Amino acid sequence: MTHYSIAVLPGDGTGREVMAEGCALLDAIEANTSLSFNQIIIPCGGQYYQETGLEWPDGSFEVCRDEADAILLGAIGWPGAVCKNGDLAGGQVVLGLRAGLELYANVRPIKLYEGVQHKVHGNFQQVWSPGKVDMIIVRENTEGLYHSLLHRSAMRATGGEEYEPPAMTFPGMNGDVAWDPRPISRAGSKRVIEFARKLVLLRNGSPEGVSKLTCVDKSNVTRGCQLFRAVFDEMAEEWDDIEVDHAYIDAFTMWLVRNPEWFDVVVTSNMFGDIATDLGSVLQGGMGMAASGNIGDNHAFFEPVHGSTPKYAGQKKVNPIATLNSVQMMLEWLGYRNNDDEALKAAKAIDEAVAEHIKKGEVLTYDLGGEASTTEVGSAIIASVVEKLK
Ligand code: IPM
Ligand code: MN
Repeated sequence: MTHYSIAVLPGDGTGREVMAEGCALLDAIEANTSLSFNQIIIPCGGQYYQETGLEWPDGSFEVCRDEADAILLGAIGWPGAVCKNGDLAGGQVVLGLRAGLELYANVRPIKLYEGVQHKVHGNFQQVWSPGKVDMIIVRENTEGLYHSLLHRSAMRATGGEEYEPPAMTFPGMNGDVAWDPRPISRAGSKRVIEFARKLVLLRNGSPEGVSKLTCVDKSNVTRGCQLFRAVFDEMAEEWDDIEVDHAYIDAFTMWLVRNPEWFDVVVTSNMFGDIATDLGSVLQGGMGMAASGNIGDNHAFFEPVHGSTPKYAGQKKVNPIATLNSVQMMLEWLGYRNNDDEALKAAKAIDEAVAEHIKKGEVLTYDLGGEASTTEVGSAIIASVVEKLK
């Protein structure tokens, strides 16, 4: 019997609805394997803030840090939910955990399953074929343009002193000026690039069969990106078993859409990765399909990339697959980390069940052209996982 404690943070809006499916999946795995899960449910987010004045109950950060083997998050963010200092209410949760637990690699797979019609120009169609979209974007998760907000959020979570960037004057600018520093460090770049390089070695290459790490930056313009690329190039000198490539972020967005088959693993800075992965999700059928892991050396949390979709909250209509696949990533991470074959087996069962479910194409949510509810999709996939585990 292997026992894991999982901190479950459903968060806001539809985050709660998809997380219900994530929890049901864990229950089903527990009932059909030797794994057992202690699910520690922690209410949190913008709605919780509006109700209580807190982003999550006091002590929640410590529970995530000290008691959980892994963390699952639904979605954070709710209209009008803003902290007194203007920061996102719930930032303490998603950004506080990223910074406070040093989850420096935000791992966002972009894979198109067979059968998925993607919605482009308002129509469901096949612009990209499944064989052409299978990459992972690794987003640096602790520095860059998010740095001040990350740091403030982590300090709110841990009780430390909140950081504000120093006042600055800028030549040629008068009156009110707001600014966000974008610090990028050698050490911070090195650890995320190293992580991305290890991912390349774990995979079978791009759809074209090339094992490759692409560094995406804007080093023709920003100093932070110049350092990021310089660190990448220094490290790449030691790699003789993979290909390396560079792209500026602007051109990358074009190639991402036009030639997704070129990419295997991509590593980039924080805000570029945030933007590129929303765009990338379209290649896989939309945000309802986009899973992610926020991973550090000692902790990790897993979350669907989509937000709390307030306009659909309470309707049980959003796609739970991004969440089920985030559970899949969590079990894979736990499996590798603990040499736990049972967790790896469960992860594989989820992967196969999702792929088969979509290929059948019978029970799908609106975003994939169907009319099924969150629960109907979740239950059907969970039933198939159970069959595989028996
Ligand atoms: C994401 C989200 C977050 C981010 C928000 C909710 C702070 O958009 O995980 O991509 O910007 O990182
Ligand atoms: Mn985002």
